[in-house]
Amino acid sequence: MTTANAPGKIILFGEHAVVYGRPALAVPIHAVQATATVTDLAEADVRIRALDLRRTFKLSQADANDPLALIVRLTLERLNVPKEGLEVAVTSTIPIAGGLGSGAAVSVAVARALARHVGVDLAAAEISALAYEVDRVHHGTPSGIDNTVIAHDKAIIFRKGQGWEALDITKPFLIAIADTGIASPTRVTVADVRTGWEKDRERMEKHFDAIEEIVGRAREAIEGGEPERLGELMSKNQGELEAIGVSAESNERLIRAARAAGAAGAKLSGGGRGGNIITLIDALTRERVTTALQAAGAKRVIVAEIK
Ligand code: PMV
Repeated sequence: MTTANAPGKIILFGEHAVVYGRPALAVPIHAVQATATVTDLAEADVRIRALDLRRTFKLSQADANDPLALIVRLTLERLNVPKEGLEVAVTSTIPIAGGLGSGAAVSVAVARALARHVGVDLAAAEISALAYEVDRVHHGTPSGIDNTVIAHDKAIIFRKGQGWEALDITKPFLIAIADTGIASPTRVTVADVRTGWEKDRERMEKHFDAIEEIVGRAREAIEGGEPERLGELMSKNQGELEAIGVSAESNERLIRAARAAGAAGAKLSGGGRGGNIITLIDALTRERVTTALQAAGAKRVIVAEIK
């Protein structure tokens, strides 16, 4: 039996603009994770078990685009091993369609567990590429940031098509991640932004430029040991996300609650229109902000130290 995990992730700055070539900052979140377990099975097929969804099926009978079947098939092909004699069981504590990278985390955990089970040491970049293939089928035009931050398990600055660099966090900081409870598939907001961009490229590109500038300043703050500046930058980034049409009342209610309770700034994170928001907190505001988020209807609040 072989088990592997993969963390969730949060985009700190730059979502959506990253699809249009701008940089974005993302960090792994270990408070939530996906787990895959591979065991040998005396059967001429691969059995896949999605334990949280109470779904068991055979690889040979799966829908070709089923994300679990796809990552199992792609990984076994990459490993050059026959598609039989294995059971792959998956569980995850990462909410689905919440901007925490649940899909990529499941893919990374499965690819890692399969590779380890057959004794192959697949590099993080290869695992990342396999997870990207699955996201591509499901998101349409993913930037690749999710699979990259999760497979490498590092804070990153990412630019589509140009790869990534490790982000140097010189002074740790705290964020609260609050779930609106509204599942919002990324492919829908990504497609809506595309429609907006096709209608008025000039306007949308200006917002993406503004986001790029915010990302640059956020990087400076993080690498320069001044994370307290991130609150204001989060609120600025949120303003741009509202302008491109991916925010919603569910996000804004939590953002207002966090700010009213003393958080230095807040924004949605990921695809938007539901999903999660993030807010910069510190030891002094932590209790008040998390309580306020819960009172405002957050389904779950995770406090994460970014280091
Ligand atoms: O919803 P998430 O966390 O998977 O984030 C998507 C990030 C986007 O920039 C909106 C899309 C992408 O592919 O980068």
